[in-house]
Parts: sequence; C-alpha cells; structure tokens
Amino acid sequence: MNSTLEKMTSKELVQLEDKYGAHNYHPLEVVLTKGEGVHVWDVEGKQYYDFLSAYSAVNQGHCHPKIVNAMIEQSKILTLTSRAFYNDALGPYEKFVTDYFGFDKVLPMNTGAEAVETAIKLCRKWAYEVKGIAENEAKIIVCDGNFHGRTTTIISFSNDPDARKNFGPYTAGFINIPYNDTTALEEVLKQDNVAGFLVEPIQGEAGVFVPDEGYLTKAKELCQAAGALFIADEVQTGIARTGKLLAVDHENVKPDILILGKAISGGAYPVSAVFANDDIMMVIKPGQHGSTFGGNPVAAKVAIAALEVVTDEQLAENAERLGQLFRKEMDRVIANTDLVNSVRGKGLLNAILINDTEDSKTAWNLCVALKENGLLAKPTHGNIIRFAPPLVMTEEQLMDCVSIIEDTIMNFEK
Ligand SMILES: Cc1ncc(COP(=O)(O)O)c(C=O)c1O
Repeated sequence: MNSTLEKMTSKELVQLEDKYGAHNYHPLEVVLTKGEGVHVWDVEGKQYYDFLSAYSAVNQGHCHPKIVNAMIEQSKILTLTSRAFYNDALGPYEKFVTDYFGFDKVLPMNTGAEAVETAIKLCRKWAYEVKGIAENEAKIIVCDGNFHGRTTTIISFSNDPDARKNFGPYTAGFINIPYNDTTALEEVLKQDNVAGFLVEPIQGEAGVFVPDEGYLTKAKELCQAAGALFIADEVQTGIARTGKLLAVDHENVKPDILILGKAISGGAYPVSAVFANDDIMMVIKPGQHGSTFGGNPVAAKVAIAALEVVTDEQLAENAERLGQLFRKEMDRVIANTDLVNSVRGKGLLNAILINDTEDSKTAWNLCVALKENGLLAKPTHGNIIRFAPPLVMTEEQLMDCVSIIEDTIMNFEK
C-alpha cells in the first residue's frame, strides 16, 4: 500500500479523498506530505510557508522534536488505560498544567468541541447545585458569530447557516447577544436563571474580530456582579497565539472556566482541557462525565512537552513582536492596493479584509495565488483571509512571507 501511495500524484490523492471521504471540507488543492517548523511540503516536493497552523494548533511549529519525542517515548511504554485505572503520567500532568494556567483543577478531554461541551455541562451543573437555579431552567449567554465546534449542542447556538441548518432539533438554554456589546450583556444578565457567559476573547473563525479594549474586563465584572460564570473559549486564541499565554491575559482577566485545545499539544495529538477552581469543578462526581481517551498518558506527556516549548522558546513574546511587525507591513502593502481594505488581529492571529462582496471568490482565488507562490492560507468567512503562521517563525522568515503576500497582491488579477 505504501509503495502505491508514494507514487501517487497530488491530483490522484485529491481524487481519492473526493471519492471515498465525506465532503464536509473544501480544502485548498495542495496535498501535504511533510512538515517541519514553519514549513510544509507537498507530495511533488514543493515547499510552502504554513500560514494557517492547522487553525492555530501547530503554534510550536510542525513536528517539534521535543514534542514528537515525548509522544514516541510514551507510546513505547503505555498509550491508554482509560480512567478506569490510574496511570503514572496523568497526575504529574494535572499538577503541571494547573500550575501553568493557575487553576485548582483540570478536566482533560481530546478535542476543542468536547472541551466546550464539558464547560457547558460544568456550568449548568454548578448553576443547579451551587447557584440554586431550578432544574432545566439554566441559560447560558453566547455571542452572535461564535464558533465553538461542531457538536449538536454547540451548533444549536451558532448563527452560521452552514453550521446549523437541517441539524435540528436544537438544544435549548442559550441566549444570543451581539459580540463586543457589554450593554447587551448587562441587559440579558438581568434575566432569571442565567448560569454563565461563553465567549471567545477574539472571534477567530468569524474572521478574527478583536473586541474593543476593556470588553473582557467589563464582561467579567458584569458576570461576577450577576453571579454568572465567565467562560473563556481559548481553543484558538490560547497558548501564545495572540502575544500572551492567553488572550484574556491582555486585560488580566481570569475566567471562571477556561477552555483550551489545539496548541496545548502543539498539534501533535488531540488534547483539550477545561480548567476551573474547586468551588466549580467539584460539582462533577464520578460517573457524571468522561472520555475514554481524555487524560491518556500520551496526551499527558505531549501536552507537558508542548507547554514547555511555549515557555522555553518564548513563543508569546515572539508572537507579540512579529504580530506588530506583520500588521505594520500589511498596512504599508494595503496603502498601495485597492484589493485589500484592512488588516486586523493580535499577536500572530491576523486577518486581511478583501475589498469585494462577501460571496465573491476573490479571497479564495487570492489564496490559490498565494499557494502558487509558496504560502498556504485560507479564507475564514467570505472575503476575510486569516494569517496565523506557527509562532516559531523568525523575523527573516516573516519578512519573506510579507514579500510573497505583497507580490501576490500586486500581481493579482480578479
Ligand atoms: C474557539 C474555538 N472553539 C472550539 C473549536 C473546536 O475545536 P475542535 O475542532 O478541536 O473540536 C474551535 C475550532 O476551530 C475554535 O476555534
């Protein structure tokens, strides 16, 4: 099988996915076979800069040797016990990771969506058992334009028609308000039975919407005053991406529940986590929540290595510095073209807004042109292109990428 695969071209491999895989994604037509640091290579051997980082999972760069090594070494000894038994990697990981993020406890899961589901369940249980809300009456406030994953409950409060339509009946108990609107939040917090507020510190999938400065601080204050939990979904913004360890750190806000995924493993392995202090986390008792793979020994070792890389290589500081430079350079490029309206973002989570209608193919076609020129990026929604390279990028590499983007924009024909 392997020798057959080695001989396959990109075109043939795309055809295989098209024929045998569900069509739930629309990938850019590039078939990758290798990754190292900020680079990936396609099966024909062409090298690219990765400017997506697997939706901010590969913050530490592709195949980071320390992370891969942790995975290999643990895989040789013990991969999975389930939580029916203890294993000798989980406890040390739980101590390490709760120290790292400053919470009493962690609940380990695998994917981002599972961690969001966990946070929702935790918030509801706390609402009934601590806050005293009547059974089945708890409400969680969420924001328009949110993206928290793909499960039935999560898409129930999405307002993206693609994500939601024809997947009903939907889970009840959510109230949508506009993003970046503390007046709306204050108003809705006056309702009875509000258990919590679930929010992305920056809306990534929606198109890298950065809220006004002070939004998170005010939102946390309002929640606290109303006795509702402030739940931060940092699956995409967390782990150094925005120039701080967490995006809430820009405003020194401490969530009551913190949700992490993606880069907590450096993209090597599915690892996610929910953090809270004892007064909240201890409402979950044995048998009430879990996952066969959550907290497995490989995940534990991989996550420790991945977080050590973030500290050792000062990835938050690098993201902050290179992010400033990137936006400055993009502003310079944008001043000389009608194709792009603006750039926005924080750290190395950025987006450019294409000057065209939301349903135009311009952003997609520009990504195709960028690919031809050796840089991989993808539109988020409509005419917005997200730029999120691995955080191990050097200034020289970033400037090389700026040249690719500039040349592509200047030579692009609609
Ligand atoms: C903010 C946010 N939450 C949750 C998720 C879901 O994560 P996963 O795809 O690992 O389920 C994502 C994925 O993009 C995300 O950006």
